[in-house]
Amino acid sequence: MANLPVKSDLRHVIYALSDALDLVGIDDVAHGKRVGIMAAECSKLMGLPEAETTFLFDLGMLHDIGVSTTQTHHHLVAEFDWQESQVHAELGYALLREFAPLSRMAIPVRYHHTHWDRLITLPAAEVTAQQAQQANLIFLVDRVDALAAPWYGSGLFDHIEDVREHIRANAGSYFSPELVDIFLTASKAEAFWLLLEPRSIQNYQHDLLSHGASYQPTFDELKQLSVIFSHIVDAKSPFTAYHSLGVARLARFLAERAGVNQENCDKLELAGLLHDLGKLRIPDEILDKPGKLDAHERLIMNTHSFETYQILHSIAGFEEIALWAAYHHEEPGGKGYPFHVHEKELSIEARILRVADIFQAMAQDRPYRAGWPAHEVLGLLKELAIDERLDASLVALVEKYLDQAIKIALPGPDEMPFRLV
Ligand SMILES: [Fe+2]
Ligand SMILES: [Fe+2]
Ligand SMILES: [Fe+2]
Repeated sequence: MANLPVKSDLRHVIYALSDALDLVGIDDVAHGKRVGIMAAECSKLMGLPEAETTFLFDLGMLHDIGVSTTQTHHHLVAEFDWQESQVHAELGYALLREFAPLSRMAIPVRYHHTHWDRLITLPAAEVTAQQAQQANLIFLVDRVDALAAPWYGSGLFDHIEDVREHIRANAGSYFSPELVDIFLTASKAEAFWLLLEPRSIQNYQHDLLSHGASYQPTFDELKQLSVIFSHIVDAKSPFTAYHSLGVARLARFLAERAGVNQENCDKLELAGLLHDLGKLRIPDEILDKPGKLDAHERLIMNTHSFETYQILHSIAGFEEIALWAAYHHEEPGGKGYPFHVHEKELSIEARILRVADIFQAMAQDRPYRAGWPAHEVLGLLKELAIDERLDASLVALVEKYLDQAIKIALPGPDEMPFRLV
């Protein structure tokens, strides 16, 4: 792609999007980063090159890329060896292997819950010695984080010896004896644990970002990465499969017909893919509730577009994408949420995204109802436009292209971006 509508550093984008993964912890939103820091500290002690240390930090940040639901996250933190842990490892592998800039992480992610005594029996064609070490290091520090999680914030130092003992007891079975030794040495230092406090985490990440080489991704690479994250969000609930993908496709289609320039069409497509990122912090029970939400649940649900803004607005080059994505529940009449912006602040791109969001949600099949036929969706959009909840000129555009719009909003099986294992 010759044009670069978004000028960003790829690692900066990845670091910001990894915040979304950590949101699945709801009240504890730093699991991936703590795993990354512990892995990097062990790497330094092993004397590995700086590039490998950075790789291990990034791998730690992204290792749970296959986890969307708060329920899965809970099992992984509350149980030392959860029976079903391989499911998210396989999903993470499937998401990463196709994306060249991160494909080196696919194999270590696949084996980050595999016991060492089994890992070393696998053929090198499946997992090399280096990949086995990377995977097992992540497994080890991931389990350290699960063991320490109840004590972050209060009394951690009273429990460090128990955590270390638990890991020591599993040398040779769960973990490589050599890695256990490294961890036991690294974790003798108080600083190892102090680095896991929220303020230190930020500094650690900042330092790594300012040292590494920067890389300007192409639009196609940014799109691929956004598709991966859209998939994580959409997979969170059976109610929303491929919702973000459909919204992005329809938003682009409408924008092109509304005369939006190519560069902004590209950006809007990314905004569509990422608009519901903040839903990762919504508990499964609220997102999957078949009936109407009560007032308290509604308040929690309505935080999601603000969380999307929090994740995206700090990325250099994503300023407009962040606003368009975060405004997808704002309304021309000023009664939307969470910012209550006024009509004049709602750009055409933000208005398009809102129309596309509602259109896709109504047209898609849900477990409790079939998708609405196109003319019924249009009827609803018209009513919303009369109440100043949608832009009437865009609803007219939907009407003009209704047959195409419905096909574009509902990607067919051969248009799905992943063959998941
Ligand atoms: Fe995991
Ligand atoms: Fe994990
Ligand atoms: Fe939303």
